[in-house]
Order: sequence, then C-alpha cells, then structure tokens
Amino acid sequence: MVKMFLMLNPYSDMSKNLKKLVLSLLVLSGLLLYACKKTNNEAASSVYVFEIPEGFPQPNTDPNNPMSNEGIELGRLLYYDTALSYGGPQSGLACASCHFQEYGFTIPAQNVLPHCNLAWSRNFLWKGEFEGTLETIMQFEVNTFFEVDVQHLIARGYYQEKFKKAFGTTQITDTLIAKALAQFIRTLVSSDSKYDKFTRGEVQLSASELRGMDMFFSEKGDCFHCHGNAMFTDNDFHNIGLITKSQGDMGRYLITGASHDVGRFKTPGLRNVGLRQSFMHDGRFKTLKEVIQHYNSGVKHTEYLDPLLDKPPLGLTESEISDLEAFLLTLTDPIFISNKKFSNPYKP
Ligand code: HEC
Ligand code: HEC
Repeated sequence: MVKMFLMLNPYSDMSKNLKKLVLSLLVLSGLLLYACKKTNNEAASSVYVFEIPEGFPQPNTDPNNPMSNEGIELGRLLYYDTALSYGGPQSGLACASCHFQEYGFTIPAQNVLPHCNLAWSRNFLWKGEFEGTLETIMQFEVNTFFEVDVQHLIARGYYQEKFKKAFGTTQITDTLIAKALAQFIRTLVSSDSKYDKFTRGEVQLSASELRGMDMFFSEKGDCFHCHGNAMFTDNDFHNIGLITKSQGDMGRYLITGASHDVGRFKTPGLRNVGLRQSFMHDGRFKTLKEVIQHYNSGVKHTEYLDPLLDKPPLGLTESEISDLEAFLLTLTDPIFISNKKFSNPYKP
C-alpha cells in the first residue's frame, strides 16, 4: 500500500518517471498510427527480396532506389514499350528492340552489350562512359539516348496508376522512369547454365567441356584473370591486342584521354556468349573459334597491350581450341532466355 501511494504521489520522482513513460508511450503509438495511415494512403509498394545465387557476390544497389515488386513490374512495362522513344532520336523503338531476351538481351550479330547480371556491374558501355550503379546509366538512356517524352507515357492511360503503386506518386519523371528500368534490369540474373548446374553438382560436363574448363581457369588458357568469378568479367577495361582498324578502336582513351587507356574496352561477361554471332566491341569476329584463335596467336603486341597478354602465343592445338569452345558453350542459360518474368508483358 505504501509503495502504491509512493508511486501515485505526484511529488515523488517515481511518479514523474511514470508520467514521462505514459506520455512517451502515447507519443509513440500516435507516431505509429500516423505512419500506418501514411503508408496506407500511399498504397505502399512491396519489398522485393533479391535472391543472390550461390557463389555470386553482393549486387551493386542504390540505397535511393529500393527494389519493389511494383517497381520491377513497371520497369518491365517500360522496357518493352515503344512509347518510351516516341518523338526522340530512337523513335518507335523499345529497349527490347535491341535487347532481345531470346539472345540474352542483345542482338547476336551486333555489338549490343547484353543485359545479363548487370546488377553486379560498376562500369557501363564498351568504353565505360558511365560508372556506379545501373541508375546512373538509366538516367542517360532515358534523357539522352531516348529523350523520353513523359506525355507519351501519360497518353497510355495506365502508367500514372503504376507509378503511384511503385513510387507513391502519379507524377511521372525521367528520374523515376530510370529507377524503374534499373530495378527491372537488376532482376535479369542468369545462373542456370549447364556450367552453373555442374558447379552445383546437378549435371556432369563432357570430357571435352571439362578440359576446356581447366584451360579457361588455369594459366594455360589464362582466361580467368579477366573473365573469372561468377559473372565471367572482372568489371574492368583491357587492351587485348586487337589490330586497330578505326578511331573507335582507341576505346576508353576516347573518354579519359589517358594514354594507358588506349585500346581498352570493358570486359564483357561471357554468359550466353554461345548465342552471339559477332564478338568484341566492333563485332569483328564472327565465331567463337575466331575469338579463341585471336587469344591463341593473334594478339598484337604494342606498348598498350595488357600485361596479362604480353607473353608468347598460347600454342593451343585444334582439339584444345574445340575444348575451350565447348566450355564456353556451357555458359548458355536456357532458363534465363525463356524466363516468363523477363518476357514481353504485352504478349502474355
Ligand atoms: C538501337 C539499339 C538499342 C536500343 C533501342 C537500346 N540499346 Fe542499349 N545498347 C545498345 C548498344 C549498341 C549498346 C552498346 C553500346 C556501347 O557500349 O557503346 C547498348 C548498351 C546498353 C547498356 C550497357 C550494358 C553494359 O554491359 O555496359 C545498357 C545498360 C543498355 N544498353 C540499356 C538500354 C535501355 C534501358 C534501353 C531502353 C531505354 C536501351 N538500352 C535501348 C543498343 C540499344
Ligand atoms: C587481359 C584480360 C583478358 C583476358 C586474359 C581474356 N579476355 Fe576475353 N575479353 C577481354 C576484353 C576486354 C574483351 C572485349 C574486348 C574488345 O571488345 O575490344 C574480351 C572479349 C572476349 C570475348 C567476346 C565476348 C563478346 O561478347 O563479344 C570472348 C568470347 C572472350 N573474350 C573469351 C576469352 C577467352 C576464351 C580467354 C582465354 C583464352 C580470354 N577471353 C582472355 C579481356 C580478356
């Protein structure tokens, strides 16, 4: 009883503390109620959980663009929509007009860089004009490459609702378009090739594929120094000793003006490389055999050549070249190129 009295006595310290506690609880619950109401009003988007495949590192994300299911869905609609380009320099094209899913989001016979595992990329375009996260290059694609006119999206009738769901606003801006596209492209993950299945112990590789793999990952072929890790790219730039045919072959030098960048290009990831019909920044090689022949005996030695390639010719035999090619073909991912989550949403 005495204790009770003490607690309720307005002059005791204990009671003051209790009052403070009750007050802060009231404030807290008020805040909570307000927060709930606010998110309800904004039709909150649902958080997308990015599943990192076994053996892959953390993806490169933008804290200002958290991924949501609604944001990804919107990005997919935009990616396949020709209205994105109406009136601009690429009028009538959608992103998907040059980045075809069935070929790994590229055009096989052109130098279109594929959209595959770009969630892990930090450098974009052959010469690396853009660095950072996908959001950076998407801003360029939207503003400069496509010169997106928002009015054409509004005219579609359904976008304002979609932007509201994804970003909580019906105000369509180029920044939000770029964010939605970045979210969608970040989901384009390829991790189900025969090679992946082999690393997970699900399938066997043929003897030839295994020999090719050993060559790829050992000093003999020495491909892994630049095409190592789960993405098959080191995310860097190299001069691989191609013969200079045009000004364009100056590569990254054209961006930085630094002499050590002469002839350096982004190392492309090699997943789905077997679906391509032209290779390198200018599509100069038409078959994988020609590419391997280049590394085997075609490397041009100049002061700009990457030190990793400044060595005697590999001296691979015809059958070793076939083995290496067989291994590269195991990087084709049939699930990636037919995944319905990535396909044209206007053609169910
Ligand atoms: C007319 C064909 C064409 C269209 C349409 C097109 N692209 Fe591309 N895309 C290319 C080519 C070619 C490259 C490589 C160019 C370079 O590196 O200089 C490329 C490269 C890229 C890259 C860099 C990939 C990497 O590995 O660095 C991204 C990202 C990209 N495109 C996104 C888009 C988006 C988003 C759209 C739609 C807004 C789009 N593209 C529409 C042809 C196209
Ligand atoms: C010093 C780094 C380096 C090494 C080592 C290297 N590559 Fe490359 N690879 C690159 C770069 C950079 C490119 C793009 C060059 C360009 O377009 O000018 C490339 C391009 C390719 C391409 C064409 C991909 C496409 O989409 O066009 C294939 C295939 C390839 N390399 C396979 C190999 C194989 C096989 C080996 C081992 C025999 C190897 N690479 C060793 C850096 C390297």
